[in-house]
Amino acid sequence: MKKVNFGTTGLQVPAIAVGCMRLTSLDEAGAAKYLNHAVANGVNFFDHADIYGQGQCETLFGKALKMTDIKREDIFVQSKCGIVPGIMFDFSKEHIVKSVDGILKRLDMEYLDALLLHRPDALVEPEEVAEAFDELERAGKVRNFGVSNMKPMQIELLKKCVKQPIVANQLQLSAAHTSMITNGLEVNMMTKGAVDRDGSVLDYCRLKDITIQAWSPFQYGMIQGAFFKNDDFAVLNQKLAEIGEKYGVSATTMAVAWLLRHPANMQVLAGTMNLDRFDEICKACDVKLERADWYKIYMSAGNILP
Ligand SMILES: NC(=O)c1ccc[n+]([C@@H]2O[C@H](COP(=O)([O-])OP(=O)(O)OC[C@H]3O[C@@H](n4cnc5c(N)ncnc54)[C@H](OP(=O)(O)O)[C@@H]3O)[C@@H](O)[C@H]2O)c1
Repeated sequence: MKKVNFGTTGLQVPAIAVGCMRLTSLDEAGAAKYLNHAVANGVNFFDHADIYGQGQCETLFGKALKMTDIKREDIFVQSKCGIVPGIMFDFSKEHIVKSVDGILKRLDMEYLDALLLHRPDALVEPEEVAEAFDELERAGKVRNFGVSNMKPMQIELLKKCVKQPIVANQLQLSAAHTSMITNGLEVNMMTKGAVDRDGSVLDYCRLKDITIQAWSPFQYGMIQGAFFKNDDFAVLNQKLAEIGEKYGVSATTMAVAWLLRHPANMQVLAGTMNLDRFDEICKACDVKLERADWYKIYMSAGNILP
């Protein structure tokens, strides 16, 4: 398993991480089997959020872990908070601290390896976030802190008060969802792709050694579905299969290899709950994708080269 730096922590984490958003599609025994399989393949990093399955994903994970011989200290468990679904975003100190207590209770764990703020809160007060992080760190409940779906200036605003390093930023990225790459290519143009939707977050994270965690690596739009077998992405699918054949791997493997080829050294959050698909995803770590092939896949998704 390829390893990448986890922010500036000095820790090395697997380039593939398990996204646990869909964990409740498995029962306890199925989840335990999945965890064993992941860890046996070097994937010992698990991403949660307090809202996944309305908390049920964390509960199931905690129970399933106990059915395995995996030791807590041998895995990275990360969760996110700050979304109150359909109502608001909440980065208040009270909400962050209370959320972590709920997360730890559901996971039945003493600490999180990382806590990320899930989605920007328009009413964020960085002083409060700093107080929450300090309290959680002091209490030994959270070891590292990060963000999700945040622009550079939003991270800078937090850093005005937050003293802990921001180790990760979770961002949507797939071969069919490339805006953070595209606006860096179509600079200063009147094209659709030139629109800067994220404040050059890709370059910022590389500059600041913040690990990008690519979420929904097979989805398009607002998690509308996988782009595989989707007629709107016929050319992309054909190219992934064709280039995959050249490297002796499947289109699924190639879609992940395309993400891992980016020199930002990202982590890919794989959401599959299917063991065969998981294996295909892990194979991407062994693919050395040539530059020209990376660009061919990029363009096959409808992107242009200026
Ligand atoms: N920070 C955020 O705002 C945010 C938002 C969303 C997600 N996330 C994180 O990212 C993780 C991954 O997200 P995700 O689950 O959307 O990622 P994903 O890996 O792109 O999607 C997984 C889903 O696609 C299906 N799929 C995969 N390959 C397929 C194929 N060839 N044909 C048909 N279906 C296929 C999977 O089905 P099978 O199970 O059958 O393989 C599964 O239902 C989440 O678990 C979560 O940790 C973060």
